[in-house]
Amino acid sequence: MSSDANLAPDVAEYVKSAIKVSKEWRLPDGRGDWRDAKATIVKKAAVIGGGTMGRGIAIACVLAGFETILVEQNEEALSACCKQLETTYTREMSLGRMSEQQRQRLNSPAFRKTTSFDGLAEVDLVIEAIFESMKLKKELMARLDAICKPDCIIASNTSSLDFDEMSSPLKNPGRLVGMHFFNPANVIKVIEIVYGSHTSKEAVATAFASTAAMGKLPILVANCPSFMFNRLLHVYLTQAMKLTYLYGMYPKDIDRILAQFGLQMGPMTMHDMNGIDVGARIKSEHGMELSSIERELIDRGRLGRKTGKGFYRYDSRGLKSDDPEVKAIIDRISAGQNTQQRHFAESDVISFLLYPMVNEGYLCLEDGIIASPQLIDLMFHFGFGWPRRHGGPMRWAERYEGLQKIGETMRAAHSAEPEELVYRLSDRLSSPLNSSKL
Ligand code: NAI
Repeated sequence: MSSDANLAPDVAEYVKSAIKVSKEWRLPDGRGDWRDAKATIVKKAAVIGGGTMGRGIAIACVLAGFETILVEQNEEALSACCKQLETTYTREMSLGRMSEQQRQRLNSPAFRKTTSFDGLAEVDLVIEAIFESMKLKKELMARLDAICKPDCIIASNTSSLDFDEMSSPLKNPGRLVGMHFFNPANVIKVIEIVYGSHTSKEAVATAFASTAAMGKLPILVANCPSFMFNRLLHVYLTQAMKLTYLYGMYPKDIDRILAQFGLQMGPMTMHDMNGIDVGARIKSEHGMELSSIERELIDRGRLGRKTGKGFYRYDSRGLKSDDPEVKAIIDRISAGQNTQQRHFAESDVISFLLYPMVNEGYLCLEDGIIASPQLIDLMFHFGFGWPRRHGGPMRWAERYEGLQKIGETMRAAHSAEPEELVYRLSDRLSSPLNSSKL
């Protein structure tokens, strides 16, 4: 993948050098790196689970040139999956993101959809995208271990589960690697390649090579709860939720401010798009509490765009509008809180949402989850719709906003609420030094 010709020269240069950094991956403790690891050549792939993610991943596999088998758990799920695939092809073609030739390949024998595991003995790569349940995923690992050839690499698209535990049913746990695609998986260019304590350099190299064949940008991250991208996203959304239930701000006002800042999509629209219940499931896996606003929306069946209502209401064409029901909920649950601050200055909303997210980026670096701030920026540049004039949140923080200012704000927030996890201070921001590097 190359950088974008329409970027300002300094940003283009930054993105180009970040892409180079991403390719030069390295496992810790001398376990291997991009120079000495041999990838399995992938000719045949299988995707297990044909839901939201599995369908997009299978499309990406087919279009990367792999003979692909998509396995669903029963005929009913398979039939729903095939129908959804056709809808996706039609939409992608109408958006000009899929050619007639690509559609023909997707409808050719190179893409087989089935409920059977027949043929899995020959595949070089399996990517699982079944329900987010450790029990189900471990059962699947045991089944795959018995069928797949020894050099077949097994990848999981889990968004939050622990790799070391997931790999325990495998005779060779080194062959499990995380391939964490972002939704929609056939469209978004970045992908987190996650390694556990046992993941082999060959598994990482295979994940990198097959992702590159899909035209995507792989970024290596270590196993940790939620991995890198979602850790930052949780912080961002936690703060966005507070703006509603603590400060009485309405979704449209929050989204407008972030859109003016230059994000492609504000947090409330994003939460609706991803599914408020999906975020809730991940939070509950990690013993985190739902905010009052999220709980109330879920209780009312307002799960986001897919149910036609979430923070907004959606018409049959998917167009969103404000919903008085949501305003009434926000007015009620924020009553008695700090509603006088509903008229937060726009710059305060930006710092309230984005400074803790930048701080979490430094924590990920200090925890050894990711190797460089440039890699965090790449993920947000290509996978989040971060304003293209910055190159990513870490560069924005260091070059445009200034770490001095961010550090002061974060230290004040941490002193006021020392128990609040999103204000846990990184070393980088806990002292007043802070020269810019990026
Ligand atoms: P989903 O519920 O849309 O799809 C899961 C599919 O797996 C269902 O169609 C189900 O019938 C099938 N399935 C379940 N057990 C199976 C089995 N044993 N064999 C074959 N098929 C089986 O879920 P979604 O959203 O696609 O998520 C799948 C995985 O991807 C989860 O681990 C999730 O955490 C992860 N993920 C989800 C993202 C999202 O935005 N939805 C983003 C990134 C990762």
